Amino acid sequence: MDMSRGCALQALLIVFITGSLADLQLLPSPVNISMVSINLKHTLYWDPVMVPGNVTYSVQTQGEFESRFVSHYWHEIKNCWNISARKCDVTQEVSTSVMYKFRVQTLVGDRLSAWAELDPPFNRRSTLLTLPKVELQVSELNLVAQIKDYGADFTFFIFYWKKGGEDDVNCITTSSYDVSTYLEKAEEGKEYCAEVIAYARPINRNSSRSDTVCVQVQERTEHGSKNA
Ligand SMILES: *[C@@H]1O[C@H](CO)[C@@H](O)[C@H](O)[C@H]1NC(C)=O
Ligand SMILES: *[C@@H]1O[C@H](CO)[C@@H](O)[C@H](O)[C@H]1NC(C)=O
Ligand SMILES: *[C@@H]1O[C@H](CO)[C@@H](O)[C@H](O)[C@H]1NC(C)=O
Ligand SMILES: *[C@@H]1O[C@H](CO)[C@@H](O)[C@H](O)[C@H]1NC(C)=O
Repeated sequence: MDMSRGCALQALLIVFITGSLADLQLLPSPVNISMVSINLKHTLYWDPVMVPGNVTYSVQTQGEFESRFVSHYWHEIKNCWNISARKCDVTQEVSTSVMYKFRVQTLVGDRLSAWAELDPPFNRRSTLLTLPKVELQVSELNLVAQIKDYGADFTFFIFYWKKGGEDDVNCITTSSYDVSTYLEKAEEGKEYCAEVIAYARPINRNSSRSDTVCVQVQERTEHGSKNA
């Protein structure tokens, strides 16, 4: 018997043995399982399994400790149990900077596929940190900055300066985003600029520096002291 047929036969036998509870050998496992992790938000994706019937999927995870010492133990992800979506938000599952395994199974009615694993496993240290976006505004001569949709678990370093006074850069740190952070009292007629770095506390890593944004402070005319 040639080698390849021998292997195929062996694989088939294993499937028959482990598949004694359900029609395991008939249902394909999900393929192309991938993790997209941006700003410490992690989402698992996989390709659709094209079989007749209502196809759903279930996801399990295993941390590094379990992988080493209790490798039979997998934890069900409640939000991603028997779902028709082809993605799963696993952000809550990943609580430390170690390797996490993930695996996905296809279900059609009471039939189950074999589990298919994310390869390689995931570590949140590999998350992509996007360039932060910041807006500078002046209201009642209060200079404020607003960092746009980033995420929790970050500290933002806001660097700001008066145009022409680049030697004198101030820095304020905040954890707030999507709300205004007060920087200082603005001077009429001056222009202010700012840049932001987002520091991801759980993985001790900085984003790149944002683009520079500037705002021109209008001179106030309501007291009549200014002619255009
Ligand atoms: C796997 O999925 C990614 C993202 O969903 C897609 O870009 C890629 O083409 C897929 N690869 C294969 C082999 O289907
Ligand atoms: C799929 O599910 C829908 C409702 O959830 C049901 O109406 C339909 O009959 C199901 N189709 C099959 C092939 O099981
Ligand atoms: C999965 O959900 C469907 C309904 O969407 C249900 O008919 C089926 O029994 C569930 N399967 C499991 C294993 O929970
Ligand atoms: C991140 O950037 C801030 C501000 O420039 C700096 O003080 C800090 O040391 C940096 N941290 C890391 C881990 O690079």
